[in-house]
Amino acid sequence: MSEKSQFLKELFQERRSCRNFSKRALPSNIVEQIISMAKLSPFAGGRKNWGVEVVNSSETISKIAVAVEERLNASAALMERESAPLFLEYGKSFLFFKEAPTLLIPHFRVSPTMRALLRDRVTEELLQWERENAVKSISAVTTFILLAAESLGVESCYMTGPLIASDTIAQILQLPKEREIGALVPIGYCK
Ligand SMILES: Cc1cc2nc3c(=O)[nH]c(=O)nc-3n(C[C@H](O)[C@H](O)[C@H](O)COP(=O)(O)O)c2cc1C
Repeated sequence: MSEKSQFLKELFQERRSCRNFSKRALPSNIVEQIISMAKLSPFAGGRKNWGVEVVNSSETISKIAVAVEERLNASAALMERESAPLFLEYGKSFLFFKEAPTLLIPHFRVSPTMRALLRDRVTEELLQWERENAVKSISAVTTFILLAAESLGVESCYMTGPLIASDTIAQILQLPKEREIGALVPIGYCK
């Protein structure tokens, strides 16, 4: 195994999800370093179609947590009596981000190319293909974020559970309407 692959293998092995963040603050400029590394990710349709929102405000993080909790409770209320407690138990894993000092929120827009090229002749299959390209791409960006963080000694967790409330989270973050959230990535240090 080459030195490079040995290094990468160790990085992959050492990265583990953190679900009990301490309040320890991150060093300045670490977020910029993570994002500049994540920018090297492959992405279908070009880099203008994605970005990363950085949330450092504990107030905003709490607002997002409340939105997720409310959506969990509203969803549980629609379930059969015996399913709701199981779902709420599972839903606890959607909230591990709330103690983290910083959230990185990769977001994307579905490229409008197919609709522009085909207008009213565009098919559902083509639109779905275009959308899937964007979803797969933001997943690659998110993976790069996790690995960049690990390489800089920062812990993280890839989270899509909280996206049960993605519409409200997008409103809290005031994301442009065509932007969709790919994941919530809390970063920091485990207790
Ligand atoms: C698409 C995706 C979504 C995930 N969402 C959550 C989540 O909402 N909550 C959570 O605690 N972990 C979440 N995870 C983390 C996985 O549970 C975790 O990666 C897996 O258990 C392997 O553990 P490791 O990351 O420590 O290797 C998610 C992972 C992926 C890839």
